[in-house]
Amino acid sequence: MAEKIGVLGSGVVGETLANGFLKHGREVMRGSREPGKLTAWKQAAGGRASTGTFVETARFADIVVLAVKGTAAEAVVSAATPAALAGKTVIDATNPIAEAPPVKGVLRFFTSLDESLMERLQRAAPGAHFVKAFSCVGSALMVNPDFGGVTPTMFIAGNDAGAKAKIRGILDEFGWEVADMGDAEAARAIEPLCILWCIPGLTRNEWRHAFKLLVK
Ligand SMILES: NC(=O)c1ccc[n+]([C@@H]2O[C@H](COP(=O)([O-])OP(=O)(O)OC[C@H]3O[C@@H](n4cnc5c(N)ncnc54)[C@H](OP(=O)(O)O)[C@@H]3O)[C@@H](O)[C@H]2O)c1
Repeated sequence: MAEKIGVLGSGVVGETLANGFLKHGREVMRGSREPGKLTAWKQAAGGRASTGTFVETARFADIVVLAVKGTAAEAVVSAATPAALAGKTVIDATNPIAEAPPVKGVLRFFTSLDESLMERLQRAAPGAHFVKAFSCVGSALMVNPDFGGVTPTMFIAGNDAGAKAKIRGILDEFGWEVADMGDAEAARAIEPLCILWCIPGLTRNEWRHAFKLLVK
């Protein structure tokens, strides 16, 4: 039976990935502090879509997607509760973008290169299986992007091999090849790819690119 997907996030990433999972045949609940703000989405999305609070969404899900503001991510994991997340794969699409303006198109992070946001989240919910994914590309390109026959690369990281195998399958459905960079610490390298990805956008309004890892 197809997994039930719980998307924590009422923003554009939550909507894009929720619609992607619906397109690929899953049942999807979206979570918010105010589920009422997702009523229009639920009505448009059809019978396999529902809404709830963060903890209701975490309880519903077999696989959770974390798509919330980076500065709120730890609070949302706490609200979703470590108990409801325990044993579940959590796709972590967040980036630790600071509440400070970019410098010449270079975003600022509230984390350091010695500790990623995902490591903090993994510590906050030790029983959950966090996998960094979807963080290094804009939302418009997350689901089956068309690069004229070229398959872009999604960099992933996480401690649990079984969870990463599930994400590998999902990324294949969503039109991505996977580069598994290792355990949660590798998120220290993946999260800053968001900074690089955003520079052409913030400086030249170009947002239609993705990363490709060439292997000889
Ligand atoms: N935008 C992109 O193209 C893109 C691409 C890759 C990765 N990302 C990352 O994906 C994540 C989501 O981005 P987004 O643009 O979709 O949305 P966003 O505006 O960054 O986040 C919206 C979500 O954050 C929650 N939130 C905000 N402040 C909160 C607080 N104080 N306490 C609890 N929850 C709070 C909101 O909860 P409520 O629903 O309760 O309001 C909402 O669900 C971010 O970490 C972003 O860096 C974005």
